[in-house]
Amino acid sequence: MKSHPILSLIPTFRFGMVAASAAACMLVTSILAKPKVAVAPTPPAALNGGAEYVGEAVCIACHAPQNNQFTHTVHAKAFRLNPRNEKEKLSCEACHGPGSNHLKDPANPANRVSLVGFTKSWGTPVAQQTAMCLSCHQGGQHTFWEGSVHATNNLSCSDCHNPMAKVSTTGLLKKQGINETCYSCHQQQRSEFAKRSHMPLPEGKLSCVDCHNPHGSTSKTLLKMDSVNETCYGCHTEKRGPFLWEHAPVKENCMSCHNAHGSNHEKLLQVARPFLCQQCHANAAGHQSVLFNASQIIGGGGTPNARMLGRSCQNCHSQIHGSNHPGGARFQR
Ligand code: HEC
Ligand code: HEC
Ligand code: HEC
Ligand code: HEC
Ligand code: HEC
Ligand code: HEC
Ligand code: HEC
Ligand code: HEC
Ligand code: HEC
Ligand code: HEC
Repeated sequence: MKSHPILSLIPTFRFGMVAASAAACMLVTSILAKPKVAVAPTPPAALNGGAEYVGEAVCIACHAPQNNQFTHTVHAKAFRLNPRNEKEKLSCEACHGPGSNHLKDPANPANRVSLVGFTKSWGTPVAQQTAMCLSCHQGGQHTFWEGSVHATNNLSCSDCHNPMAKVSTTGLLKKQGINETCYSCHQQQRSEFAKRSHMPLPEGKLSCVDCHNPHGSTSKTLLKMDSVNETCYGCHTEKRGPFLWEHAPVKENCMSCHNAHGSNHEKLLQVARPFLCQQCHANAAGHQSVLFNASQIIGGGGTPNARMLGRSCQNCHSQIHGSNHPGGARFQR
């Protein structure tokens, strides 16, 4: 037993053997019966300094607490119960790489290059970390990871995911939910969603990934679809039209009038009405659309100007997103 090259490197096994329980003996026997797992083809040979695969039983001997958590994850279930290929059978080493060099001196900080680690303190370059994950998770949602704003800001998969524990119900995230995971860096958005008028995200009706793909996309702001409008049409289909009479800014970009996350003006508007409309339609509106003087407001002494009060412009121009009425050229009907 002592002659086995891997076990002789593990202090726990060398000194703990005398008092070892029957279970531990069985574990050791099973390790000896299968000292190495067949080497998978995918990772480059030089990974972890040319180390060899030792099999998960060896890792678990020292990392039982981590294994207890890991056991509840979708990875553990997939790799152990239903592995689709040799790589998945590697279990721990599918992500951390071959472990034989790590065993030689695990506690020595100088020996950290012997293993792919995903925590900041461990020091494995981010590119190498993401390469491990992407070796199984290519394509699909992850097609645009390279060059995405998250990748170029040096985020690692493990900045949002924790595959070692089941913290979230879905997605193996770092926090309990999607929004909380994003808020851990995007504080400003947390305050936007707390505004008086906001998309019903805090209420749980939607989450960041209903509009964004955090893994990258074809649009600048990581939108799921190619443009802002396509993203909004996904749920607000009726705003797509086609309309007999289109309102140019609606067709161009919903953000001409709305905020995406939240606003202190009703209906997520960027600016209160009538100022919203006046930004583009001053007095060229064909009728008076700005106040002539202060007497026109309520209590101003003169006749209050109906065009500027209450829903103001939309008292008459109610079909602001477009109209299908033959007489709706001015969006009144
Ligand atoms: C002999 C006991 C022992 C064995 C066997 C062992 N490790 Fe470790 N491992 C350690 C110790 C000790 C540390 C802490 C090193 C440190 O903090 O510098 C560690 C650290 C780690 C880390 C931490 C990385 C980080 O980001 O902090 C990972 C991952 C890891 N081991 C994975 C494995 C894997 C995978 C295997 C099986 C191939 C394995 N270990 C086998 C003792 C062991
Ligand atoms: C799907 C990829 C994956 C697999 C499989 C995996 N790990 Fe990890 N491991 C990670 C990631 C990512 C982290 C960093 C988690 C974090 O940010 O806290 C990590 C962290 C760790 C750490 C250090 C952090 C801690 O929780 O103490 C240890 C030790 C570790 N893993 C051991 C193991 C062992 C042992 C196995 C097999 C039983 C295993 N890992 C399987 C990806 C994986
Ligand atoms: C050996 C292949 C392999 C590696 C390496 C791997 N995964 Fe996975 N991953 C899987 C499999 C298999 C599943 C199960 C779901 C499926 O069939 O796609 C999965 C599922 C996931 C899920 C979805 C969980 C859910 O509840 O839907 C996430 C998130 C994930 N992996 C992230 C990671 C991250 C982050 C890494 C790198 C630290 C990583 N994976 C490394 C194979 C792998
Ligand atoms: C900025 C945060 C963030 C980063 C960085 C990130 N993810 Fe994700 N990922 C998420 C969120 C959020 C989900 C959706 C989870 C859900 O639906 O419950 C997700 C879902 C997934 C899924 C399951 C859905 C699917 O595509 O099958 C996998 C696998 C996955 N991520 C892998 C990765 C890998 C690999 C990396 C690194 C290249 C990575 N992620 C980087 C946030 C992130
Ligand atoms: C670990 C920190 C971190 C986490 C977690 C994170 N992000 Fe980011 N995100 C960044 C950084 C850094 C940038 C680039 C700098 C910036 O614009 O703030 C960025 C940029 C973005 C952008 C583009 C901003 C722009 O102006 O182009 C979007 C959209 C975004 N993140 C969405 C998300 C979503 C959705 C999640 C959750 C799934 C998430 N982020 C989680 C760090 C993070
Ligand atoms: C209803 C769809 C939607 C939801 C839900 C959503 N976003 Fe956005 N987000 C957008 C749009 C649209 C933009 C602006 C895109 C543009 O102008 O190009 C944006 C922009 C951003 C930006 C860039 C900076 C800015 O504010 O313009 C970040 C960062 C961001 N979102 C993060 C998040 C986070 C984090 C969440 C979840 C807490 C989230 N978003 C939820 C649609 C959404
Ligand atoms: C994933 C679905 C989804 C997407 C995508 C989406 N919305 Fe919404 N939106 C909702 C839901 C749900 C409500 C709440 C409706 C309700 O309470 O009756 C809502 C409400 C609104 C409201 C009214 C808010 C209020 O105070 O009544 C506006 C304005 C709005 N969305 C604009 C947008 C814009 C602009 C986009 C694109 C950036 C967008 N939405 C994308 C689901 C979505
Ligand atoms: C020209 C400014 C403007 C543009 C551009 C605009 N909206 Fe609006 N939107 C408004 C105003 C004003 C209201 C308030 C309507 C009311 O009170 O009757 C509103 C209300 C809404 C509402 C809630 C009430 C309703 O009609 O369902 C939704 C949802 C909405 N807009 C979605 C969108 C989407 C999606 C786009 C892009 C395709 C868009 N808006 C573009 C001005 C605009
Ligand atoms: C971002 C600029 C912008 C905003 C904000 C805006 N509009 Fe427009 N609006 C336009 C443009 C551009 C046209 C098309 C003008 C044309 O065809 O000559 C238009 C056309 C119209 C028309 C039809 C006029 C015509 O000549 O066909 C009406 C009525 C109108 N807008 C009312 C409003 C109202 C009411 C609001 C506020 C809720 C508003 N608009 C907000 C840019 C804007
Ligand atoms: C009391 C009803 C009413 C209110 C309130 C109102 N309008 Fe109008 N608006 C009309 C009518 C009626 C027309 C059509 C005039 C015509 O066809 O000559 C019109 C025409 C327009 C036109 C098209 C002018 C053109 O040259 O064809 C614009 C732009 C417009 N309004 C903008 C606004 C704005 C901006 C506001 C708010 C500041 C507003 N309206 C408030 C009734 C109203």
